[in-house]
Amino acid sequence: MGERCCAAVLRVLVLLQAAWALAGGQVRYSVPEEAKAGTVVGRLAQDLGLEAGEAEARRLRLVAQGRRASVEVSGASGALLVSSRLDREELCGKSAPCALRLEVLLERPLRVFHVQLEVTDINDNAPVFPAARKNLSIAEFTTLPGSRFPLEGASDADIGANAQLSYTLSPSEHFRIEEENSNSRSKSLFLVLAKSLDREAIPVHRLVLTASDGGRPSLTGTMELVILVVDANDNAPQFNQSVYNVHLSEDAIQGTLVAQMNATDLDEGSNRDVKYEIDTVVPPSSSDLFSIDDNTGEIRLTGALDFEVVNLYDLNVKATDKGTPSLSGHCKVVLEVLDVNDNAPEVLASYQTA
Ligand SMILES: *[C@@H]1O[C@H](CO)[C@@H](O)[C@H](O)[C@H]1NC(C)=O
Ligand SMILES: *[C@@H]1O[C@H](CO)[C@@H](O)[C@H](O)[C@H]1NC(C)=O
Ligand SMILES: *[C@@H]1O[C@H](CO)[C@@H](O)[C@H](O)[C@H]1NC(C)=O
Repeated sequence: MGERCCAAVLRVLVLLQAAWALAGGQVRYSVPEEAKAGTVVGRLAQDLGLEAGEAEARRLRLVAQGRRASVEVSGASGALLVSSRLDREELCGKSAPCALRLEVLLERPLRVFHVQLEVTDINDNAPVFPAARKNLSIAEFTTLPGSRFPLEGASDADIGANAQLSYTLSPSEHFRIEEENSNSRSKSLFLVLAKSLDREAIPVHRLVLTASDGGRPSLTGTMELVILVVDANDNAPQFNQSVYNVHLSEDAIQGTLVAQMNATDLDEGSNRDVKYEIDTVVPPSSSDLFSIDDNTGEIRLTGALDFEVVNLYDLNVKATDKGTPSLSGHCKVVLEVLDVNDNAPEVLASYQTA
């Protein structure tokens, strides 16, 4: 008696469901994209109110549609199964929800049902940057901390949290990454200078920018940032000695090398190229006695020395780089003249007149 009662209730329920379906209601299913072939999406025959065996007898099937359906009706059970790969991004792109309308056909008598199949997103796409590498040129020294350089962010083909990106930068004391919401759907990304750059210390910075999506587990994409530090003229030429002590005998001939200067500049290009000159000579009357090759820094004699006239010269030498504005370094050459026996002894006679 109880069994018959329950069977009757069940029958009524099934009829109701069938009536609902026939009345234009829809059977709705959802299946995650990338579900394996054979995954049961729903008990279609049952949900349409069919009895066991009826699905097969009345040839329950999907109406072939333009695009590949990727689902099929199992003849024996009347269940809707995944038959081939379902890729939400391929079917619907960025639009959500991704709902497919299926038409289901039943024969004897002919019936058409509509089934809605929602393909839900799984985190099957990693964030992708527009390029694997980006080059940036930033001037040292004159670029102030806080300066921002726009970067193109990554994109993620998924939707919702699976496409929600956050960014991290490999550790650097000079740079950090900043995100700014342009509006609720668009973000701007900036590389921010945290500390002034010094080309002479680090000429190239290599950083890795990582985008992580909000899926669980999260997927990541990376881009290499190569920052070329552009030289500024922030280093003056520096002589390898502040004082060059040299000795020459007074009979040294014209053209003799007095001293070889050597100044170096840590900058680059024209900021590094130096030009030598003799600033002042002490005593000033001797300035014609020396010349310097502005390119090589060789100081040579251009006249004759005479111990008896001057036995010590001070030359102030300057090296100037070719930057704009230029910077200079200074040094001193102390030339000691050595006596040679070039004078006959002088007999000082004193005459006494009576
Ligand atoms: C970045 O610079 C390197 C040379 O340093 C070059 O080979 C590469 O093509 C550049 N990449 C871009 C995206 O400009
Ligand atoms: C100057 O010094 C540098 C490094 O000490 C050396 O490489 C260079 O050859 C020197 N130049 C001259 C002109 O002696
Ligand atoms: C400085 O440079 C000159 C010329 O290159 C060289 O003769 C001299 O030895 C150098 N002095 C030092 C302290 O390196």
